[in-house]
Amino acid sequence: MIAITGATGQLGQLVIENLLNTTAANQLAAIVRNPAKAQALSQKGVAVRQADYGDEAALTAALQGVDKLLIISSSEVGQRAPQHRNIINAAKAAGVKFIAYTSLLHADKSPLGLADEHITTEKMLADSGISYALLRNGWYTENYLASVPPALEHGVFIGAAGEGKIASATRADYAAAAARVISEDGHAGKVYELAGDNGWTLSELAAELTKQSGKNVVYKNMSQADFAAALKSVGLPEGLADMLADSDVGASKGGLFDDSLTLSALIGRPTTSLADSVKGIL
Ligand SMILES: NC(=O)c1ccc[n+]([C@@H]2O[C@H](COP(=O)([O-])OP(=O)(O)OC[C@H]3O[C@@H](n4cnc5c(N)ncnc54)[C@H](OP(=O)(O)O)[C@@H]3O)[C@@H](O)[C@H]2O)c1
Repeated sequence: MIAITGATGQLGQLVIENLLNTTAANQLAAIVRNPAKAQALSQKGVAVRQADYGDEAALTAALQGVDKLLIISSSEVGQRAPQHRNIINAAKAAGVKFIAYTSLLHADKSPLGLADEHITTEKMLADSGISYALLRNGWYTENYLASVPPALEHGVFIGAAGEGKIASATRADYAAAAARVISEDGHAGKVYELAGDNGWTLSELAAELTKQSGKNVVYKNMSQADFAAALKSVGLPEGLADMLADSDVGASKGGLFDDSLTLSALIGRPTTSLADSVKGIL
């Protein structure tokens, strides 16, 4: 039995789609906090088990009979360390034998503030005594695609990543890798630095938008404070705006770049190119 947390999230749903190609639905358990969101999974025959990351007892009950667990990191930034601790404690209590965890690219040396909770979780896994693999995911290309409509409207794409190269891949690419690692043998003890095959700068993203849309888009680099303020001024919550600005500055220092091609090797195909992602969003 393979269990997946965050199964109703965007990455989780794609992982389960991949798993269903190789694994019988009755060997999959979707751990969800809101079963109403998981009706499509139930209809496919996936076992839906309810547990909030805040509830260790519910997590322990949900993990009964589970051999392998994919922990998709929580989206509640700032709460992740205690939440992940609950999941790992529950996995121990339930006798889970292998865990894969979605961490952050080069988490151990990343300049991004987001790395802290991932490092804490990686240490908890090392101390747990359960065998595990780390899926250190780079940036989702989708993170930037949400900014494409305003960029086309105003002719300016704003950010704070300077000329930092971002080796992003799509959620679908990372999901394919996670599905392989959680369903195949031989991944215990591995640390996968997962990123897109080709890095690109935000200036290059603006150039790609110009090329494909026919509208002139330029990249405007801002200071961390100005970028965070600009995001807040269009309604982003303070914490999210600060995190995105910090991450862009991390990218300017190379924190979102990797050229090991580990992701494409793992999934057996090239990662989705920036040009294809831009074409999709346009
Ligand atoms: N590499 C990147 O660029 C990048 C970007 C964004 C996020 N991430 C990380 O990758 C993870 C997966 O990405 P995603 O796009 O799939 O995010 P997402 O769509 O926001 O999914 C997050 C999942 O976590 C679940 N969750 C959150 N808090 C929970 C709680 N207290 N108890 C139980 N479940 C809880 C959500 O449940 P509901 O479905 O009920 O909401 C959802 O299923 C994120 O959570 C975040 O840690 C990475």
